[in-house]
Amino acid sequence: MNPNFLEQKPMLLRKHLASSSASEDLQKVLLCLARVSHAIARSIQTADTGGAGSTNQFGEQQLAFDILSDNIIQNHLQQCGVVAQCASEEQDDFVTLTDTAPYTVVYDPLDGSSLFDVNFTIGSIFGVYQGKEVLGKSPRDQVAAAYAVYGPRTLFIFSMGSGVCECSFTEEGEPIVLRKYSPLHGEAKNYSPGNLRAITDNAAYRAVIQDWLERTLTLRYSGCMVADIHHLLVKGQGVFANVGGNTYPNGKLRILYECGPFAYLVEQLGGSASTGEKSILDVTITSIDQRTPIIAGSKSEVERVCGKLKG
Ligand code: F6P
Ligand code: MN
Repeated sequence: MNPNFLEQKPMLLRKHLASSSASEDLQKVLLCLARVSHAIARSIQTADTGGAGSTNQFGEQQLAFDILSDNIIQNHLQQCGVVAQCASEEQDDFVTLTDTAPYTVVYDPLDGSSLFDVNFTIGSIFGVYQGKEVLGKSPRDQVAAAYAVYGPRTLFIFSMGSGVCECSFTEEGEPIVLRKYSPLHGEAKNYSPGNLRAITDNAAYRAVIQDWLERTLTLRYSGCMVADIHHLLVKGQGVFANVGGNTYPNGKLRILYECGPFAYLVEQLGGSASTGEKSILDVTITSIDQRTPIIAGSKSEVERVCGKLKG
């Protein structure tokens, strides 16, 4: 038995959900997210890796597949009938789906899309909130969070507030829960330094990197947040950072679609996800394009990094 996983008998996701305390509607949301992840994984196999000739709300060039994956997710959420509205990194605002339905889903349809043409691992990230209002809430209000990893294998990882489970898929595309992740170790052996260009003008971040090098931690950085945080969750330890410098004062990552869902998952495993000042789960979300610095992973290492960043 690998110590990074808890004992878990393989079980179809729909059975696993049916035996949980989740409401029927929340079960439908989770099943929908797992199934849409499988649909995206399939369409990746034949997708156009080129640009769409358009930009998103952040002014970033969109790939044809950024738009296609966004449409696939929105259509699935519409069809599942229990999602009132959604917000996506590729859309300018919340989109109403089933007005009277109980949940809102926020998502990054294609995280790490700059790695799409080179066939590196990419992913999708999802956060689930009760009701229609998300602005004014904080990521701690999520009732579930999940991500899909499109690597050599496609995996769907989720939490509804009682541990973190990993699903793979049957040949027919049915999600199956294979294992449950163990709590993270407090100490980190691996580090993932995002937005590294910031060390040219952020001396405190430079000191953090120097510390990791001197303590001979092992670099594990792919440039896709999903892949890099997935690495630390599976290995049971590690630290991921994306902090600001002159170009991106709050780092590159968005609280709604990226940092919020991962903060929920990391803290589920006893790790920390901090802005440098406080838990990301306690940041009030005031706009859909809000960015935040993030230092996430093994608790003691996150504390050490936050201390260094404060100077
Ligand atoms: O979505 C943005 C993203 O691609 C993340 O997946 C990743 O962690 C980050 O950008 C990488 O940023 P940088 O290349 O600046 O380290
Ligand atoms: Mn992203």
